[in-house]
Amino acid sequence: MKHPHDWFTEGRFGLFIHFGLYSLLGRHEWVMTNERTPPEEYERLAEFFDPDRFDAPALARAARRAGMRYAVLTAKHHEGFALYGTELSDYNSVAACGRDLVREFVEAFRAEGLRVGLYYSLLDWHHADFTIDYHHPLRDLPDARERNDVRDMARYREYLHGQVRELLTRYGTIDYLFYDFSYVEPRDGWDGKGPDDWDSVGLLDLTRALQPGIVVNDRLWIPADVVTPEQYQPDEPMRRDGVEVPWEACQTLNGSWGYDRENLGYKSPDLLIRMLVDTVSKNGNLLLNVGPDGRGGIAPRDTASLKAIGDWMALHERAIVGAGAAGLTAPSGTALTRNGDRLYLHLFTWPFGHVHLRGLAGKVRFARLLDDGAEIRTSEISPDQQAWNTELGGQPAGTLTLHLPTVRPEVAVPVIELFLEPDGSTHDHAEPNEVRTS
Ligand code: GLC
Repeated sequence: MKHPHDWFTEGRFGLFIHFGLYSLLGRHEWVMTNERTPPEEYERLAEFFDPDRFDAPALARAARRAGMRYAVLTAKHHEGFALYGTELSDYNSVAACGRDLVREFVEAFRAEGLRVGLYYSLLDWHHADFTIDYHHPLRDLPDARERNDVRDMARYREYLHGQVRELLTRYGTIDYLFYDFSYVEPRDGWDGKGPDDWDSVGLLDLTRALQPGIVVNDRLWIPADVVTPEQYQPDEPMRRDGVEVPWEACQTLNGSWGYDRENLGYKSPDLLIRMLVDTVSKNGNLLLNVGPDGRGGIAPRDTASLKAIGDWMALHERAIVGAGAAGLTAPSGTALTRNGDRLYLHLFTWPFGHVHLRGLAGKVRFARLLDDGAEIRTSEISPDQQAWNTELGGQPAGTLTLHLPTVRPEVAVPVIELFLEPDGSTHDHAEPNEVRTS
């Protein structure tokens, strides 16, 4: 039976896009609060908001070529500036430059066959009713606490729900809503914010009523559809109350979500591909971010990273899309994914000679490198071979050994595709296959 969220758990790989007024400063999307900029000063950036290089169709093509299946755009980040023509405030992209970027995004990505998601910030450092707390840019003012006397979270809540209603009624199907975020613990004498502040229960109901079938993340701080580890990789499939749950790691290219010009701490394309493999091998999704610059353009380096991932995905997509955890222990330096009756062995190093897969003897019909589809020879250990001091020595009975070619394929991560016998059956090889010496 198909579940309405299958596209998400099968798609595995999405593009996150962080864009807003902060992109014009190029110092991280938290710049407003990091630099304690008062709203009346920060909002002047809107006068210069003219993203002439924001090209949603080009971004959609780049995402599709990278092998991504969905994308998420920041409709409003913590700074409060909306990338669409909200009627609830004139602090938005249509008022600033006549462009509804949410519409451009939704239309372009849908036309490219990708699912569309919106990020919506529960925090709003611009709204006059959003109370000052430990994340707020005005927190260091001497009268910060008194200022909260005239701020009314109930009014802000109405605004928040109103904006979500706009976003979920104006643009056709929205497949995913990424709320961000709750911080319930008190700090420095301030309260945090969470479900009561946003009316998370009401907001989740509203979201699902307006968009049946939508995927909603967990940052309303009540259980929803997907758990969202941020900038870290869980070490195994994620569980809630012992039951596996869909999860999505969001990761940056350089540690910042918004454009951050002087931050050169880039992850290499090889590392990004390993992260993607690692994620899928634990039944997760990867949402990989780009932060367009002040004109909405994508830095050449980011384009190159997406392209390198796409080159790898062009050859290895089925080891990722529609795949998940294999339920087997992977030999060191490798990760395993499974897609139907195929097992994918991702080789993070290039071992000399052999990879031994315990317990797989008799269970594999054919093995080959996925990039060129050409055979990888195998052998199986029979019980009387165990003690021999040969290249296969020390392996227990039931081990399937792969004999790797000397020449490592020129791809970021080589992958071996193993065709499994239908569940339960094993093929009948009394004798091990011919064994080559390494
Ligand atoms: C965070 C940050 C934020 C970023 C997001 C992405 O909670 O506040 O700037 O947008 O996570 O997951």
